[in-house]
Amino acid sequence: MPDYRRRATREAMSVRLDVNGMMAEAIAEGGVARDEVEALDVRTSEIARTLAAQRATGELPFYNLPYQKDAVAEMKQLGNEVRAECDTLVVLGIGGSALGTKTLIGALGPPTPRVIVADNIDPWSFGSLLDGLDLQRSTFNVISKSGETAETMAQFLVVRDLLLRQLGAVDYVRRIVITTDAVTGALRQVVHDEGFRALSIPAGIGGRFSVLTAVGLFPAAVAGLKIDDLLAGAAWMDERCKNAPLWSNPAHLLATLLYLADTRHRRNIVVMMPYSDRLTGLAAWFAQLWAESLGKARTLDGTTAHTGQTPVAAVGATDQHSQLQLYAEGPADKVIVLVRVEDHGRELPIPAAYTDLDSIGYLGGTGLGHLLNLEQRATELALVKQQRPVITLTVPQLNAFTLGQLFYLFEVAVVFAGALYRINPLDQPGVQESKRLTYGQVGRKGFEDKRAEVDAWLGRKLEHYVL
Ligand code: PA5
Repeated sequence: MPDYRRRATREAMSVRLDVNGMMAEAIAEGGVARDEVEALDVRTSEIARTLAAQRATGELPFYNLPYQKDAVAEMKQLGNEVRAECDTLVVLGIGGSALGTKTLIGALGPPTPRVIVADNIDPWSFGSLLDGLDLQRSTFNVISKSGETAETMAQFLVVRDLLLRQLGAVDYVRRIVITTDAVTGALRQVVHDEGFRALSIPAGIGGRFSVLTAVGLFPAAVAGLKIDDLLAGAAWMDERCKNAPLWSNPAHLLATLLYLADTRHRRNIVVMMPYSDRLTGLAAWFAQLWAESLGKARTLDGTTAHTGQTPVAAVGATDQHSQLQLYAEGPADKVIVLVRVEDHGRELPIPAAYTDLDSIGYLGGTGLGHLLNLEQRATELALVKQQRPVITLTVPQLNAFTLGQLFYLFEVAVVFAGALYRINPLDQPGVQESKRLTYGQVGRKGFEDKRAEVDAWLGRKLEHYVL
């Protein structure tokens, strides 16, 4: 059992950021020059100071999540209760209320999941999921910070009705756990009215920064994951980033290089490509974090800016055979972030056979994990040779401690990048209009004008453009 109280263990289990493939020394004008980073010194130092001050005054509470104590004890206790009562936990949530949990379960959960995340309202997939559940042995965790997101509330209403019909008005209450804001929102009202067991999302923490709150940690506890290790990993990344100067600060350096690549070198796409199936969830989680946090119309002073780098989720080695051609030879508009897992937790040896056939025989005697990592290295160099910027994150082993580091690294990086772009990385005004237009169509009171807008749009469509 690794003892993360020992510094040597933490060092050995550190996630490492390698930016060689990003720098001009390696890829000439395709890369960022050290001088460019240094020219930003005054600004990056000032941002680091400002964020530290905001953290100290409690304006950015996500920074302190690795150190929560009481809330974690409560989650663990409820997690144990629910584990004893059911075989399956179904999470109902969307966006930031789902992607972190999906990442956790996909990376660390058992191959047959005890926790299932239902983050869409596709009637086919959601209906099929419900059809296959033993409702007596299932618990539903409804997660919504706002307590009013249409998709999650719709799922909740479907499930509630099903449970009421099948289990009756007394037993059904026990099958639902609600995670929402401690005070506000319709879902909190429902908790008060109906007495569901509930957990709180701390104030000031938006969906995409909430994986280390009850949003991710309660399902993780039900899945039997080591949530103390997860938080210890986040705390370790915090220790590495909190006071470190730029060149030894993984989060601030990552943010600065991606920002410079975007704004000075027109690399406005960032591809997150883990070489591990278990990290496909991380690529999706990162995509939301980077997209929703940095894609903004205006800077803090109201100037029109349209900032942001488009994130793309990929997976190695699979996407070497679908997307790599574009990354290597297509438009020079991307940074590729490769995630390498040194120890995959198991190895599948490749048996020796067909030794007389060179094109197959050479594989014998190696292992699938080893081959996967050799391919990661090969892709890194192949991209560098084409002067395509590459960052490599190396994860010694995929476990709760390293995943905690990755979550924290990207959260700190995106807030730092937000400050470089001079935007607010914590809001998402651009997704509100779609919500309002949906409310209008469903008939929610107060949104009648939105229904009229949709009708008008449909009326404006020209037949000859519909084939
Ligand atoms: O990151 C965010 O803030 C969003 O993706 C939200 O998590 C998402 O819209 C769901 O919101 P809520 O948790 O309020 O249901």
